[in-house]
Amino acid sequence: MTNHAINQSNNMAEPLLSVRDLAVNYGPVKAVKGISFDLMPGQITTLVGANGAGKSTTLLALSGLVKKLTGRVMFGGKDVSALKPHQLVAGGLVQVAEGRATLTRLTVRENLQLGAYTRKDSAAEQAADLERIYTLFPRLKERDSGYAGNLSGGEQQMLAIGRALMAKPRVLLLDEPSMGLAPIIVQDIFRTLKNINREGLTIFLVEQNVRQALKISDHAYVLETGSIVLEGTGQALLGNAKVQEAYLGG
Ligand SMILES: Nc1ncnc2c1ncn2[C@@H]1O[C@H](COP(=O)(O)OP(=O)(O)OP(=O)(O)O)[C@@H](O)[C@H]1O
Ligand SMILES: [Mg+2]
Repeated sequence: MTNHAINQSNNMAEPLLSVRDLAVNYGPVKAVKGISFDLMPGQITTLVGANGAGKSTTLLALSGLVKKLTGRVMFGGKDVSALKPHQLVAGGLVQVAEGRATLTRLTVRENLQLGAYTRKDSAAEQAADLERIYTLFPRLKERDSGYAGNLSGGEQQMLAIGRALMAKPRVLLLDEPSMGLAPIIVQDIFRTLKNINREGLTIFLVEQNVRQALKISDHAYVLETGSIVLEGTGQALLGNAKVQEAYLGG
């Protein structure tokens, strides 16, 4: 979280991550059809879109988990298009585990410690980050030695985010963190993401919960059947008539 501050003080005009002409096919299915987008350092950038638009596929391609048909990913000025998933994680491109896939038979602390598996820094630094995460999520600290399987859905999502933060991300990727959670918990999750972002962390969020996501976004892209059809600030898209009609219930 210390190195995020450094990212933020970089030249704000340069994207931290940029994607050009990304296309992914699953056999005959053209899931992503040549999209380009940028993540600016220290910002929350969101990709919104309906079921099947290609949001998860875009994240999988960024993380190196599906084969890109075309496309180039530049991260921190380097071409990372051909890197393996673990190399990307080690380089700071870290996705929050989907569906809150916490390891239920491990304790909260053990789950968090596992998040640090790619790090090569000292145990003391990792312990300091664990304390920082407990400050961010006091509820997790209370449950430190409890099994993750006994946490509520919202707490498990917090734990999944905490575990990703333990990898010391430079960019945090999230695939629908609000899924399946009660509205009040969703608000909590989004508020937490904003707080983490204020410490300087760059966030790429994929969401179907368009209204809440746009509210916390600096910039957003609208994905429809594999193509980006609109982009703008979160505020601008919230006020956009097409977005309101298609995603915000008119
Ligand atoms: N493993 C797969 N094999 C074949 N087709 C797939 C596969 N995964 C996704 N697809 C198809 O690719 C398209 C994009 O799917 P993707 O999961 O990226 O959408 P999404 O925007 O994340 O949707 P959702 O909001 O439902 O999560 C869809 O048409 C989907 O059916
Ligand atoms: Mg998806």
